[in-house]
Amino acid sequence: MNREELREYRRQNIPIFNDQKLKLGVFAMNCSGGSVITTLPTEHQMSWQQNRNIIQLADRMGLEVALPIGRWKGQGGQSNHNGTNFDVYTWAAGMAEATDRIMCFATSHVGLTHPVVAAKQAATIDHISNGRFGLNVVMGWFRSEMAMFGTGLREHDDRYRYGEEWLEVVKRLWTDPGEFDFKGQYFDLAGLESSPKPLQRPGPVLVNAGTSPAGIEFTARNVDISFGSPSRPDDIERLLSVKARADKEYDRDVALMCSALVVCRDTEAEAQAAFQSILDHGDWEAARSMMATLGIESGSFKQGFEERARRFVAGYGTHPLIGTPEQIVDQMNDYAGRGVHGLVMYFVDYASELTYFRDKVMPLLKQSGLRH
Ligand SMILES: Cc1cc2nc3c(=O)[nH]c(=O)nc-3n(C[C@H](O)[C@H](O)[C@H](O)COP(=O)(O)O)c2cc1C
Repeated sequence: MNREELREYRRQNIPIFNDQKLKLGVFAMNCSGGSVITTLPTEHQMSWQQNRNIIQLADRMGLEVALPIGRWKGQGGQSNHNGTNFDVYTWAAGMAEATDRIMCFATSHVGLTHPVVAAKQAATIDHISNGRFGLNVVMGWFRSEMAMFGTGLREHDDRYRYGEEWLEVVKRLWTDPGEFDFKGQYFDLAGLESSPKPLQRPGPVLVNAGTSPAGIEFTARNVDISFGSPSRPDDIERLLSVKARADKEYDRDVALMCSALVVCRDTEAEAQAAFQSILDHGDWEAARSMMATLGIESGSFKQGFEERARRFVAGYGTHPLIGTPEQIVDQMNDYAGRGVHGLVMYFVDYASELTYFRDKVMPLLKQSGLRH
């Protein structure tokens, strides 16, 4: 398929490329605490039933994306943030069976799943979901998580070189009709084959969330969607550079989606108070542990360590969307106007807040033309 044919095929068949002006998804509900590092009492429970109810609600609302965090251990502190977490591939398979339209993603650490296993699991979930599977390919940054596997963390940019080779093997297993050998810098594999192929052509939608120069280069060359975490709306311009790079250097389409904590209430004062109570209950020890890990281990977050701590306590480092339903729609309109393809949303209490979002925000999104 050439670029134009691929665009048309995806527009017609793949939910994340449908004709909604702003695609929407839910993110991080598979891990305790989700995106907020806090001891704030919450109704969000780490039960399969509640996770399934949330994704089924998102599915009925017509949202495009259900995205889990790939996490293996907690961040320590009082909350041991994200310490209870469902595995991502089996989570996606279960959600695929429980839903009809939404895309179910897995977030896979390239160093922890062999590409032959990843390609097979992805193809299987693509069949379970009838072509609604997506793969978020992550390199890893949490050293003590990697230590559980007895593997260290590679040097930052080397992670992306390894990831590129890993993905090359996966893509070939999805598309090569026969048997093949693969010899690269990291993998020396003989007699590779995989059947069935995924239903999506040329394979499931691929995502990466790297924001460093190496991460952006990896995304431009290899995947379909970049997940950005802007700490301010004007950071979007920098994140959008991946689109131009993919277009000019590699003749490819790459879309930018952003993540955001949504805190929406009937009045602005209530929304601000709800946001403040997240900070008031912040587990700063766990937040600083995560920040320190990212600051030391990741190329992207070296600047402004302390100033970003509040962002990490409330929303995994991203700019939050706070306000009345009208104000949330205005902020989403601003994102769409800047060229953002979609938003994956975090909530504190996913079940109740997504229901509120359905009742109060979705009708306004439709009025505004962002959704139909
Ligand atoms: C929206 C989003 C989702 C992410 N999900 C995960 C995840 O589930 N697991 C993980 O280990 N890293 C995750 N990351 C981290 C990224 O893969 C990446 O390591 C990080 O953004 C730092 O970028 P860099 O690797 O280019 O320095 C996520 C990042 C973003 C922005």
